[in-house]
Amino acid sequence: MPRDDATLETQLSDQEYVRPPTQFVGQANATDPGIYDRFEATYPDCFEEFAALLDWDDHWDEVLDDSNPPFYEWFKGGSLNASVNCIDRHLEDRKNQTAFVWEGENGDSERIAYQDLYRRVNEMAAVLESVEVAEDDVVTVHLPMIPALPVTMLACARIGAPHSVVFAGFSAQALADRLDDAASDVLVTVDGYYRRGEKLDHKATCDEALDLAETDPETVLLFNRDEALDDSVTIESDDPYVLVEDCLADCAGREVDPVSRDAEDPLFVMYTSGTTGEPKGCQHRTGGYLAHVAWTAKHVLDVKPDDTYWCTADIGWITGHSYIVYGPLALGTTSVMYEGPPDHPHKAISWELCERYDVDIFHTSPTAVRMFMKWGADHLDPYDVDVRHLTTVGEPIQPEAWQWYAEHVGGGDAVVVDTWWQTETGGHMITNLPAIQDMKPGSAGHAVPGVQPTIYDGAGDPVDPASDTAGNLVIERPWPGMLQTVYGDDDRFVSEYWATFSETDSDDPDDWVYKAGDGAVQASDGYFRILGRLDDVMNVAGHRIGTMELESAATTVADVAEAAVTARDDPQKGSVPDVYVVPRAECADPSAIPEAVVEAIESEIGSFARPGNVIVCDALPKTRSGKIMRRLLEDISNGESLGDTTTLRDPSVPEQIRTHVQES
Ligand code: WTA
Repeated sequence: MPRDDATLETQLSDQEYVRPPTQFVGQANATDPGIYDRFEATYPDCFEEFAALLDWDDHWDEVLDDSNPPFYEWFKGGSLNASVNCIDRHLEDRKNQTAFVWEGENGDSERIAYQDLYRRVNEMAAVLESVEVAEDDVVTVHLPMIPALPVTMLACARIGAPHSVVFAGFSAQALADRLDDAASDVLVTVDGYYRRGEKLDHKATCDEALDLAETDPETVLLFNRDEALDDSVTIESDDPYVLVEDCLADCAGREVDPVSRDAEDPLFVMYTSGTTGEPKGCQHRTGGYLAHVAWTAKHVLDVKPDDTYWCTADIGWITGHSYIVYGPLALGTTSVMYEGPPDHPHKAISWELCERYDVDIFHTSPTAVRMFMKWGADHLDPYDVDVRHLTTVGEPIQPEAWQWYAEHVGGGDAVVVDTWWQTETGGHMITNLPAIQDMKPGSAGHAVPGVQPTIYDGAGDPVDPASDTAGNLVIERPWPGMLQTVYGDDDRFVSEYWATFSETDSDDPDDWVYKAGDGAVQASDGYFRILGRLDDVMNVAGHRIGTMELESAATTVADVAEAAVTARDDPQKGSVPDVYVVPRAECADPSAIPEAVVEAIESEIGSFARPGNVIVCDALPKTRSGKIMRRLLEDISNGESLGDTTTLRDPSVPEQIRTHVQES
């Protein structure tokens, strides 16, 4: 039967959009659709609504100083302390409310009320002062998902010492590199932690990092994971190690006056992968960052003080910084922290914890959703999971995974929100306000009010808005959560993020455009869909890894002459790295190379970066000018037909490699 276009359109849109449940809309924090126009009309003053969620010691004089782009200043003249905003100001109303419910992998658990958090953070701040950490000293923190991690971060914030948290899964070399870049005098770590039933020797990683690093920290503060330090731990008299437990005994009951920080003073540094082999320290300011994460936690995650909220990320990545520690605590809510992975001690542990703690809001990654889906909905059956809000971050979520998440975890009556943002952006940038917009599986949605994402073509011109044209995702106007600079390297800040699409000799902010490094498309309904990285950065199970970092790790193997890394599509992890290596002429046993490369990557970066395949080949495909054509390797990895190979120096190389791939 013929259908007219209008009917067809309605049918399509019926499938495409999902309305937020009425009971959600009725209770949501953000319900006014006029917010977008209001923010647009009053930019940048609109962001005063962000800042108004915080307690300030001094009110700002100017919302945005854009006189020296791209070194923007937010809430200029204002001052505040992040730990006061996350703890002290909640004490009057709810000091007995739980701030963190922590669940250890081995069955330990703790409930930390705001009052306890206040005590612990003050005592830890006193410990930091006792080892002479002063305002503006960068403290490197290499802690896993144990309460000591947020406590240390907030203690640093209290005394105005920016923290640089290095994800616990990073190797000794990666820790050493970050320690060197930040030139930290104080490092904070722990003797061990649990992973799939085993206690990992975390201090050993630290020992090794101290050997590898050029920086010689004066003090390494060592927490103990269990009641007592592990027997295996030995501390020599000339070690920089100091036991936190001993220091805490001296600092018991101490209160430390919070330092009033200028809004522009840095709160923390977080290293992330970029297009070169060197990780960049994204430096975040106190005022703009905290305002951005508090506002988005409230309006996007819909966090309320009496909620129990669980974000399954690791605090060692930006998601944990913004949406386990700073955003939720600024709002005074209760957060769940789990030490272990989602399949230990069993594959239903997430649902067991959701039931036990009566979780209202559950935040995870698409990789986790795909894993839950693979394990099966049966795992949910024995548990009473009653969430009103589900969110995802880190990668695009496929409509099928979205549907499964909504139906089985959300029980059909929760909202599902996809959030696009980056370490550099500090907080959410593209995502729906859940009660205001319809959900559209597979699309991140609309810009956060006041934020201006745009798609640029390869020539650096904006494509027509909402024209379904894929291109480079850029942000055209500054926003409060944006990184301040690359730690210690303003030039790199400009070259990595701004130079491509900006007129760098101009001091007109309109000439400055932030490059996200992602491809995206904006559909005619205004919804943005993120297509993935366009640069040499890949996203493995939601972890960001630079191709160059992997290649330089692979070439540390003595028998490897050259290496090229590509992202292979993976149904579970989104993508996995494949490493193509060419052995040195004098290599006696090329068959030993793959294992050596895997080991090298694990020791240079960490096991989360473990490659899928290592393929030993005779040559890499190169252009006549000698550039490796990674695109061809990517096509080979993904079993796709090869595009244009005419620019290759030796056109037979791809077929030779394809044979190696089939053999391996
Ligand atoms: C990707 C994580 C699709 C993207 C917060 C980005 C996403 C990189 C999404 C940043 C999403 C993040 N949909 N892709 N909702 N969220 N990404 O710095 O490629 O670890 O550039 O920050 O993750 O990763 P990062």
